[in-house]
Amino acid sequence: MIPPLTPTFTLNNGISMPRVGLGTYMLSGTLGKLTMKQAIKLGYRLFDTATLYGNEQELGQCLAESGLSRQEFFITTKVWNSDQGYASTLRAFEISLKQLNLEYVDLYLIHWPVPGKRKDTWRALEKLYSDEKCRAIGVSNYYIPHIEELLSYAFIPPMVNQVEFSPFLFLPELLTYCKNHDILLQCYSPLTHGNRIYDSGIQSVAQSYQKTEAQVLLKWSLQHNTSVIPKASSKKHLEENITLFDFELSSSDMLRLDQLHENLHTDWDPSTVL
Ligand SMILES: NC(=O)c1ccc[n+]([C@@H]2O[C@H](COP(=O)([O-])OP(=O)(O)OC[C@H]3O[C@@H](n4cnc5c(N)ncnc54)[C@H](OP(=O)(O)O)[C@@H]3O)[C@@H](O)[C@H]2O)c1
Repeated sequence: MIPPLTPTFTLNNGISMPRVGLGTYMLSGTLGKLTMKQAIKLGYRLFDTATLYGNEQELGQCLAESGLSRQEFFITTKVWNSDQGYASTLRAFEISLKQLNLEYVDLYLIHWPVPGKRKDTWRALEKLYSDEKCRAIGVSNYYIPHIEELLSYAFIPPMVNQVEFSPFLFLPELLTYCKNHDILLQCYSPLTHGNRIYDSGIQSVAQSYQKTEAQVLLKWSLQHNTSVIPKASSKKHLEENITLFDFELSSSDMLRLDQLHENLHTDWDPSTVL
């Protein structure tokens, strides 16, 4: 089977990133490895991990055993809260690299806007970027006030902001703000962490396109010009989640889906962080 390689975005520093990738939270151990290997076979090239997920080693093994060259992959990892600060971020990054068995990562993110640590952590990311240890740097769970603060001291602006985003958590102001600052918004938990996939509002749209509910949720995010990183563990789900470029949601259906917004945070809410 020829892998359905996904289209890419060009980030603000000129590098390209697949629009669809595999989120790997909860994919660890033997099952995690089997899933990641299956994903590689199906054509996934972007993998999103984090120190917190405890699976960087398994991901590194899958990449090494894939027989593909390093340049074919786009690997994201993140510095966790307890490692934030300048020197500790640099140390955490080296540990991640070792776990992944890589010489560089494609994207390194600040996992969460920890008060009092954000500036020093960003300085460390700028150093790693300047030293060419990561091809892009960015943030996660940053809302507008956090990005405004970051832009007030950044020498290198972020390339990506990874946040929870779905029709049930539609953030048009953040989306526009990121777009205006040339920061790509990447959606985590685009399938609502499994909580609302089969909502009736999604089901009716899915039926009219003869697509699955998951495909409609992902397509809605993509049509808002974002990147998506759904997590899946079965072959069927993996396949569905990467087969998204043979249909288009109409503008009226996009609007219908936008209106499902109910501020649903399936994990944590960054607006509570000053
Ligand atoms: N930066 C952050 O703070 C942050 C926070 C949360 C998540 N993330 C990242 O975002 C990724 C995705 O988010 P998530 O893991 O929370 O949840 P998600 O991708 O929104 O949803 C995953 C759930 O959807 C199910 N699913 C996947 N494909 C499906 C399909 N085609 N049809 C029906 N069900 C399907 C999965 O089931 P199966 O496993 O059974 O296939 C799983 O239960 C994470 O893995 C992680 O990489 C980042």
